[in-house]
Amino acid sequence: MARIIDAPLIASGDEGCALPSGQWGPASAAAARGLVYDAAVKAETDALCDKVKETIPAFEWPAYAPLIAGINRLKKEKNAVILAHNYMTADIFHCVGDFQGDSLQLAREAAAVDAEIIVQAGVHFMAETSKILAPDKTVLIPDLRAGCSLAASITGADVRLIKQRYPGVPVVTYVNTSAEVKAESDVTCTSSNAVQVVEWAAQEWGVDRVILIPDEFLARNVAAMTSVKIISWKGRCEVHERFTAEDIAELRAAHPGVIVLAHPECPPDVMAAADYAGSTAALANYVTKNAPKKVVLLTECSMSDNVSAAAPQTEFIRPCNLCPHMKTITLAGIYDALKLRQHEVTVPEDIRVRAKQAIDRMLTLPKTNAPLDFKTGLPAATVELVD
Ligand code: 13P
Ligand code: SF4
Repeated sequence: MARIIDAPLIASGDEGCALPSGQWGPASAAAARGLVYDAAVKAETDALCDKVKETIPAFEWPAYAPLIAGINRLKKEKNAVILAHNYMTADIFHCVGDFQGDSLQLAREAAAVDAEIIVQAGVHFMAETSKILAPDKTVLIPDLRAGCSLAASITGADVRLIKQRYPGVPVVTYVNTSAEVKAESDVTCTSSNAVQVVEWAAQEWGVDRVILIPDEFLARNVAAMTSVKIISWKGRCEVHERFTAEDIAELRAAHPGVIVLAHPECPPDVMAAADYAGSTAALANYVTKNAPKKVVLLTECSMSDNVSAAAPQTEFIRPCNLCPHMKTITLAGIYDALKLRQHEVTVPEDIRVRAKQAIDRMLTLPKTNAPLDFKTGLPAATVELVD
């Protein structure tokens, strides 16, 4: 999020979250909405200020606090919850999110949550997933620009053509796709369960190959871990495709002993050179469970900020790539979404019902022995790419 810079600054930082005796000029986003940093806001937000002190310096807190307090009040008033993806900035993730997690965890929360309104602090396909699973709730996305390069890489018509070309082969679709694409699919998967879903689909359909779309790299990384043959698509995550094995070699040389964690949307040579790989939730768990001395997360930038709050003993080396879509979501956008009940995400009923079937199959999958994280150090595997 762009830092709000028009709040008067306290230079020493000694004041912590204390309300100074002088006047605070409100930051522009808060001021434009008539929100100020006063004693009530300070009292409501002091504990949150402490939670994010590594990411938001205390002297900047008065710029954030009015919007945070305003959002938390609106949530109560409107019976709303905020589902915050792990890539949200720390102010959103720690200070206004009610549920935090990876794509799979947020989908499970959407299906179970007891509220009238869901605000999706994430990208559009996640909001669609929430609407598909919770059709009676109003689902809001704070910014309509919050897309995804993977979701944009494929349409429902593309999937229909793929199915014509490979009749009888089950279609496993990554959740980073539109509702229309999910509606054409047999089952969805996330980075938390891709290997498990592929192996289940092959067994269920009694075949030795599976269509896994649209992420080429995720497909290659799954193919390295299973004997099921994979047919895929040339979609890429614009954030993860930019990491290279050379980056890892340079990091290891510059920071001896660093533990390298990668998301499975990264290219196979990056996965081979990493120490551990998995969904955003798996990466966060690895750090909190193993408490490495030094770690680098090859994924979106906000992950390190968010995980470091729960891992004070770990030093985070921070080369990372920003997701421009995730970063359209801001406190101001969330405040407006709640206040003005905007931007509502809807899914046509016929598409919703078919897409739900594919998501439900994933959510109710029987337990298998397939690992939920990804193996690193494996030789690259080939997949057949549909062109
Ligand atoms: P997960 O949080 O499911 O690992 O997905 C990462 C991602 O890129 C979401 O857009
Ligand atoms: Fe899409 Fe990649 Fe951004 Fe996730 S990080 S929303 S996969 S572009």
